[in-house]
Amino acid sequence: MKTLTIAVIAGDGVGTEVIPQAKRVLEKVGHKHELSFVFEDFDWGAEHFFRWGQMMPAGAIDLLQPCDAILLGAVGHPKIPDHTTLNGLLLPIRRAFDQYANVRPAYLYPGVASPLSRPKGGDIDLVVVRENTEGEYAPVGGFVYRYQPEEVAIQTSVFTRRGCERIMRFAFEIARQRDRKRRVASITKSNAQGYSMVLWDRTFQDVAADYPDIETESLLVDAAAMNFIRRPESFDVVVGSNLFSDILSDISAIIVGSMGLAASANLDPSRRFPSMFEPVHGSAPDIAGKGIVNPLATILSAGMMLDHLGVADAAREVQAAVAAVLADGKVRTPDLGGKSSTEEVGTAVLEKLA
Ligand code: NAD
Ligand code: IPM
Ligand code: MN
Repeated sequence: MKTLTIAVIAGDGVGTEVIPQAKRVLEKVGHKHELSFVFEDFDWGAEHFFRWGQMMPAGAIDLLQPCDAILLGAVGHPKIPDHTTLNGLLLPIRRAFDQYANVRPAYLYPGVASPLSRPKGGDIDLVVVRENTEGEYAPVGGFVYRYQPEEVAIQTSVFTRRGCERIMRFAFEIARQRDRKRRVASITKSNAQGYSMVLWDRTFQDVAADYPDIETESLLVDAAAMNFIRRPESFDVVVGSNLFSDILSDISAIIVGSMGLAASANLDPSRRFPSMFEPVHGSAPDIAGKGIVNPLATILSAGMMLDHLGVADAAREVQAAVAAVLADGKVRTPDLGGKSSTEEVGTAVLEKLA
């Protein structure tokens, strides 16, 4: 029996509703694979903030570090500014653990309708590889004359050659591993941003030269957004900076049917630190507390966690169980046009694993 210790941060809003379903699935699939999970639950987030004035305690990173991986629900509360919640909990973890590769697959499962009329199940199968530790999200900047009429805000992007190169190499490696279209698209904006994106483009050309077996294209981010709608089938691996990929991965989520299906992994490929797995979506305050949030994005993220932790068979089973529930089309939450509850969807996945 192998034991995996998972730090669990359910967080806020629907985060607390999707995480229990992912845990049920992990326990069930673990049982079949001689795996046991020790879940260390951390009640960090908005409630912690209301009580203690911070989203997570000092020393939180040290508490997470010994775990094999981190499973996170969502962060964000309508009564606290988003920059306070996210800079207090989610973003510092990605940086502290050097989770520089954010992997966000988008697959149109058979049985799920895309809002685009043309693609059918299986036609869209892409993965957004997002630089996750620097770029536009670098915590560099400040206010001058704060709160005065002449106030000034400076928010500086930081692009390093090391940062660009490692995420691009990672993307090319994924294209080889996936062995599908063997294509990498790089997302740029060097027509307007003549420093950061010029370094990005030059680095992409240099890295691409090491992967002659992989086809490449370079797309301006605005054109990429258009092409995600116009020709989503043509994409395989898409590599982009922190902000550009954040935006593109909401587009890729919705063209494969719902935010409720979009999984993600925040990886430290060097494995010095624990990686973190979370759905792409947020705390969805508009539906929180109603028991109708789609738990499949979190369940699929837990599947990605199993893969990262070396139990690929179990990971495949989780994905196959989700695919089977979607193909049946009987049990689904309202975002996919159904009437089922979060818990009923979790149960349907468990039944497919049986
Ligand atoms: P959101 O992803 O929470 O919701 C966007 C829309 O998609 C909403 O209509 C919501 O109901 C729907 N939706 C999202 N996930 C769903 C699911 N699993 N099932 C069914 N419907 C789903 O984005 P938002 O409304 O822009 O942000 C809400 C809060 O979450 C904000 O505080 C934001 O900062 C935060 N946020 C956090 C994360 C994170 O923790 N990783 C990600 C994105 C947004
Ligand atoms: C995501 C989210 C976060 C991000 C926010 C909540 C800071 O949108 O994980 O996609 O932009 O990285
Ligand atoms: Mn986002």
